[in-house]
Amino acid sequence: MKKTKLRYDRIALLLLFIITILGISIGIKYLIYTHSYEYKFLNKGYDKESTYYFLTYEDKQKDYLLSLDYNDYVINILKEKYFMWKNIDRYISYYLENKDKPLNDIISIVNVHSDKNWYDDDTIKQTDISLNEAMLVNKFNYLPKDYDSNLDIVNVKNWYAFGDDKKILKIVYDKFIDMHNAAKEEGLKLVISSAFRTNKEQTDTYSDYEKRKNKEYADKYAARPGFSEHETGLALDIFTDNYATTSTFENSKEYKWLLNNSYKYGFILRYPKDKEYLTGYAYESWHFRYLGIDLATKVYESGLTYDEYYAYYIEK
Ligand code: DAL
Ligand code: ZN
Repeated sequence: MKKTKLRYDRIALLLLFIITILGISIGIKYLIYTHSYEYKFLNKGYDKESTYYFLTYEDKQKDYLLSLDYNDYVINILKEKYFMWKNIDRYISYYLENKDKPLNDIISIVNVHSDKNWYDDDTIKQTDISLNEAMLVNKFNYLPKDYDSNLDIVNVKNWYAFGDDKKILKIVYDKFIDMHNAAKEEGLKLVISSAFRTNKEQTDTYSDYEKRKNKEYADKYAARPGFSEHETGLALDIFTDNYATTSTFENSKEYKWLLNNSYKYGFILRYPKDKEYLTGYAYESWHFRYLGIDLATKVYESGLTYDEYYAYYIEK
């Protein structure tokens, strides 16, 4: 009798022990889980799919996402192709002020800094000229003073240009001649109307536009001095004999040929149609920018403006 009681006591004790251990381990597991990112995201209101997506990021990025109020848009921002972590705050603020805009536009606008005002004193900076033909010159990136005075500039033969006063960067001239000859074989004629411009010439170009109407108009079509690709010698305005004006060139065979072939010689269309909100300039069917063949090919294949390409792939 005594022996049986003793056995029951032992069993009861063992059971109690097992239950305690189980309880403790469940407790610890729960404690660990409530401290996990998974629990925190789910607890914040995100569904499993978003939560698992967030979990793929680094801890400091997950902490940032947790610091935000619950929202249903951040996941879509993160999934955008050209999303960059360094811009997340700006995507969110810009999105909240522009909810009607497509998300890919919001990402591009912020990447190229166009969520700020063009020529904004706080945003403009001297461009990195060590990138040579890959340098970005736009309404936020200007050239060093006197940049125009040290370049390998040559005269353009009037055979290739309207008039005999055009000057051009040597490497760009060589590639233009290759391109000109290739187009010629297809019965087309590419003619340069403007190539390298000194800072002084760009000042005159800009003021001509300004005099025609006003500053707002000038800013659509001409760069302010110090901010023009023409001052690098890397930009060419190209037309053809019968379509020699800014309003007609886009109807020419030469324009269509350039659109499909110029990258093979290192040139891209720099200010495409409907991209003013990114490039800062109205569509210029005639303005081609030399980037070198490799880079021009990549930009062409990406379908991006150079501002976007630079922001995502080159800018530090
Ligand atoms: N027309 C282009 C934007 C320039 O002036 O450089
Ligand atoms: Zn131009």
